Amino acid sequence: MTAKEIRQSFLDFFESKGHKIVPSAPMVIKDDPTLMFTNAGMNQFKNIILGNDPIKYPRVADSQKCLRVSGKHNDLEEVGHDTYHHTMFEMLGNWSFGDYFKAEAIAWAWEYLTEVLKLDKDRFYVTVFEGYAAEGLSRDDEAAEIWEKLVPKNRILNGNKKDNFWEMGDTGPCGPCSEIHIDLRNDDERAKIDGATLVNKDNPLVIEIWNNVFMQYNRKADGTLEPLPNKVIDTGMGFERLCMAVQGKKSNYDTDVFTPIIKEIEKITGYEYIIKN
Ligand code: SER
Repeated sequence: MTAKEIRQSFLDFFESKGHKIVPSAPMVIKDDPTLMFTNAGMNQFKNIILGNDPIKYPRVADSQKCLRVSGKHNDLEEVGHDTYHHTMFEMLGNWSFGDYFKAEAIAWAWEYLTEVLKLDKDRFYVTVFEGYAAEGLSRDDEAAEIWEKLVPKNRILNGNKKDNFWEMGDTGPCGPCSEIHIDLRNDDERAKIDGATLVNKDNPLVIEIWNNVFMQYNRKADGTLEPLPNKVIDTGMGFERLCMAVQGKKSNYDTDVFTPIIKEIEKITGYEYIIKN
């Protein structure tokens, strides 16, 4: 599948599950002093999530252009050093505002990856929030139980507050999350080292591909958490990483998201692009 086909298949899948497909919001944020640039698909829905704006569509999906170059989610130091972080990237996402919750979000993520895209089930690991006693947050047993129906138990890993409690910024909507990681190493390497030991360890071929956030709180300026008026699903999948997985590449830059641009640069500069793998 081409990158264009992959993006469309995501939108078609969630449209078939009753989601309204909406456009990407602008990357420069005008009305929110807590954020300079769009850093996640959920930004444009912040006021709906907080209950300040009415829910227009309870189910929404889109592909959002994001910039993570400053603030809480800043990938700038990684860009140019690895194969899977970008200053600007696209985030595929689906949302439920007070409608479905964990069971459907997890089941549909799994269905899309393994049945629509037919990615190998044995290459996936998932994480669930281990809890954080200091804030009275318990382990996300509910998400773990849902995953247990879909993947073997040894592929369900606990994750800490840093990795598995997603917050938009210092204040704003937040909640425990469940990440889906994919192991793109070749079979020899997979046989030698268990992929479960490489999750969240900066291995360029064992990477997070999709984050499912179960928004339940608003982090207030004084640091406390208050419950949201509605439970919200906020998911975000790295489009360029997904293209790498589907197209069997070892770097985002070798997918057709980037190769036409790189070819054009070769033409203009007269220099050859060399892939070092
Ligand atoms: N907001 C979450 C993230 O950016 C999921 O979309 O990872």
